[in-house]
Amino acid sequence: MNRRDFIKKATMAAAGAAVVSPVSAMLNNVTGETKFKVLLINGSPRTDGNTFCCLKEIEATLQKHGVESEIVQIGRKPVRMCINCGGCRQNNGAGCAFDDDMCSVIAEKMKESDALIVGTPVYYGQPNGGILSLMQRLFYSTGHLVQNKPAAALAVCRRGGATATLQTMNMMFEMMNMPVVTSQYWNIAYGAGKGEVKLDTEGMQTMRTLATNMAFLLKKIHADGNPTPQRDEFPAFMNFIR
Ligand SMILES: Cc1cc2nc3c(=O)[nH]c(=O)nc-3n(C[C@H](O)[C@H](O)[C@H](O)COP(=O)(O)O)c2cc1C
Repeated sequence: MNRRDFIKKATMAAAGAAVVSPVSAMLNNVTGETKFKVLLINGSPRTDGNTFCCLKEIEATLQKHGVESEIVQIGRKPVRMCINCGGCRQNNGAGCAFDDDMCSVIAEKMKESDALIVGTPVYYGQPNGGILSLMQRLFYSTGHLVQNKPAAALAVCRRGGATATLQTMNMMFEMMNMPVVTSQYWNIAYGAGKGEVKLDTEGMQTMRTLATNMAFLLKKIHADGNPTPQRDEFPAFMNFIR
């Protein structure tokens, strides 16, 4: 593919967001009240570890606010990294060329979700490798499914590196037009052994506040039935090496 074709295809992919209809519009319940769904991803290979505990706390609070959620585990099976093959740029947004791991499962679930929260353990001061690989492929191949949807990351660590981890995660949301949801403190909780994080009472409260803020924002931005800003410019795409 030449440079001009690449730019055209990348621009079309980015602009795809504009034609995605709000999922929530399809989820009206019998009372006419709009239902929202938040997808919660556990990036830890420990499916019942500390990151999971944080997501459970968030789930319970979302439920209190009448917001649906689903926790998806990336688990212990290998997650492929993006190999920059360009396959996803040639299939009209159908997704990553690899469809043999959790990335395609999560992309499918993202279609039915109005927002995204990703939990990661801190490994060497960064998100763990599996979740980074998954997020990079998910966002590169199916960015139109996450565009404009509110998002948050949370990080769990034994001792240090959580703020750098959060920054890495937020970098992805911030270039996909995703409103980043915050809390009373950075979305961090502390624990080492499984379940220990529940002893971090401030951390747990931070998770509940995050969930409350997420529910509040979702309801507000959908209130007039138009959760996507009208943008009158096509996204530019200009490499610095020309
Ligand atoms: C490979 C590896 C690297 C880690 N690096 C850090 C680190 O840099 N800072 C830290 O505070 N904890 C670190 N930890 C501890 C985990 O972040 C901590 O145990 C966390 O609670 C795990 O979450 P989980 O139970 O959801 O998997 C590391 C753990 C592993 C396995």
